[in-house]
Amino acid sequence: MCGIIGIVSDKPVSINIINSLKKLEYRGYDSAGLATLSNNLIDEKKCSGRVEELEKILIKNPSNGNIGIGHVRWATHGIPNIINAHPHSSEKVSVVHNGIIENSDELKKDLEEKGFKFKSQTDTEVITVLVTQFLENSKPLESVFKTLKKLKGSFALGIIFKNFPDIIIGARRGSPLAVGYSNDENYLGSDSYALKSMTNKISYLDDGELCMLSKNKVDFYDLNQKKINKKIYTVSDDENTTDKGDYKNFMSKEIFEQSNTIKKCLSEYTDSLKKDINIYNFPIEPKKINKIILIGCGTAYHSCLVAKYWFEELTSIDTEIDIASEFRYRNLKFKTNNLYIFVSQSGETADTAAALDICKKNNVKTCSIVNVVESTIARNSDWVLPIHAGPEIGVASTKAFLGQLIVLYILSLKLSIEREDIDKKNYDTYVENLTKLPEAIKKTFKLESEVQLIAKEFLDAKGSMFLGRGNSFPIALEGALKLKELSYLHAEGYPAGEMKHGPLALIEEGLPVIVIAPKDKYYEKTLSNMQEVIARGGKIFFITDNYNRLLSTNIRFRLRVPRVDSNLSPILLTIPLQLLAYHVASLKNCDIDKPRNLAKSVTVE
Ligand code: G6P
Repeated sequence: MCGIIGIVSDKPVSINIINSLKKLEYRGYDSAGLATLSNNLIDEKKCSGRVEELEKILIKNPSNGNIGIGHVRWATHGIPNIINAHPHSSEKVSVVHNGIIENSDELKKDLEEKGFKFKSQTDTEVITVLVTQFLENSKPLESVFKTLKKLKGSFALGIIFKNFPDIIIGARRGSPLAVGYSNDENYLGSDSYALKSMTNKISYLDDGELCMLSKNKVDFYDLNQKKINKKIYTVSDDENTTDKGDYKNFMSKEIFEQSNTIKKCLSEYTDSLKKDINIYNFPIEPKKINKIILIGCGTAYHSCLVAKYWFEELTSIDTEIDIASEFRYRNLKFKTNNLYIFVSQSGETADTAAALDICKKNNVKTCSIVNVVESTIARNSDWVLPIHAGPEIGVASTKAFLGQLIVLYILSLKLSIEREDIDKKNYDTYVENLTKLPEAIKKTFKLESEVQLIAKEFLDAKGSMFLGRGNSFPIALEGALKLKELSYLHAEGYPAGEMKHGPLALIEEGLPVIVIAPKDKYYEKTLSNMQEVIARGGKIFFITDNYNRLLSTNIRFRLRVPRVDSNLSPILLTIPLQLLAYHVASLKNCDIDKPRNLAKSVTVE
């Protein structure tokens, strides 16, 4: 899930490459590099660490070429260091790559036997060596086609050629790649976001396609090397979304933006006058849907889990959930009256995209719930429901999670009324209750100072547990995920009722345990499970929307979120957990927007 940029122009490109790489850092940030062609030489500069290090190198020693490629890396093969950083160059070509070449060991062995030498531990360098070898007898385009035939796995590539200083070749199999157009300048990028400051005219490569860019022209080719035409999209401008404003980092901005992003999402999907939900053109007539299968990864998977409770509660549709990396390899029985729903903030996650492809091959109807409407997953699905959250830059997902929840909830309500599973009166009440959410979210932010006090208590902890039942169970999982990804503290999310089947053994004196207990049908049961934890020394942090006095005194801290329709409580209960993870990580001086070892868009398996 590295980031790729390529620019061919009539003026020097390195500054724009650096600016685009900064935008691509959400894809990987363990090393960075660029290569330009100037004075008939490949000028390669690389560093371990962030793009700002690369920028410092360029300030001391500028690169002047009018054509270049750049890369930010998320290490797969080989540790993050300068040698393994991209581009990987020979005396003739320079290559940037996103993805994994699965047969790289085999190819490397063959090439080494023929006398070729390798400098890095990466899978990418075989591409450099193969293209270089084919260039002995072929033109660039043909050399790349010949190389692609040898590669197994997934990739997006950007390649420049020392002896052909006017072209960049890009190729895609599995990993996303976009082309941007401007006057006397064209671009290659992992996504349109990286190109936005330079152009809003974008085409997207499909799997197996290749493109050749010069400053005035872009040619596209299919697998069979036949020239093809591609549609040019005009991508939307998102207002004030790529700037952190007065916030210390993107994550805090994105947390506190949530009342507005939810308001925007609601205004897109609800008609306050008619008290109705504007969702139409179902790919399967609602009454004919037999089963819903929700698929996602990471935080998006947690939103699927919450939605399962809603679909089961509000509709008569049988609902399953699946992790995309599992779904794609199972021996599934696809049915045409099942609706397969893919949830993904980026719309580019490799496992989710592959699971969607499998559904397409099996001719079943697909829906995607995405934040990026120009993404691969959105473009490949039959029906798209955007979450309208605006770009999310912090690696740990916050506002996208709440956006996914809202769209899934709205969808469950609409299906419910269309299938006549609920009556109009109840439906109107549920729709009306939604309108109260943005205000309730704002009120929940007021808990921040209390959360800061709680955060201090996590500093010396060896681990932590998050417990919930019903639709609070996925929120426990999400709370634990946020804490581990941001603060590197071990955190487990568990259904409170399962504690007695093993995890209780982990409870010892002083272990922080977050109990998420809204006043719903599970409330009393959760309290009993909490007592079992208290009896074993667990330090309880209790999050609820119940304002009645609690009898138990062994609670270290209570947080109360506003009381809303109990279907919607997962939305409010998430916020203190996002703030907790944020403040524990701040106290530990962790890099909030770019946690170690992670990346925002995971475009490898
Ligand atoms: C990565 C991100 C997570 C995200 C997951 C799925 O792991 O760090 O924040 O939830 O990918 O991403 P998606 O874009 O498909 O929602």
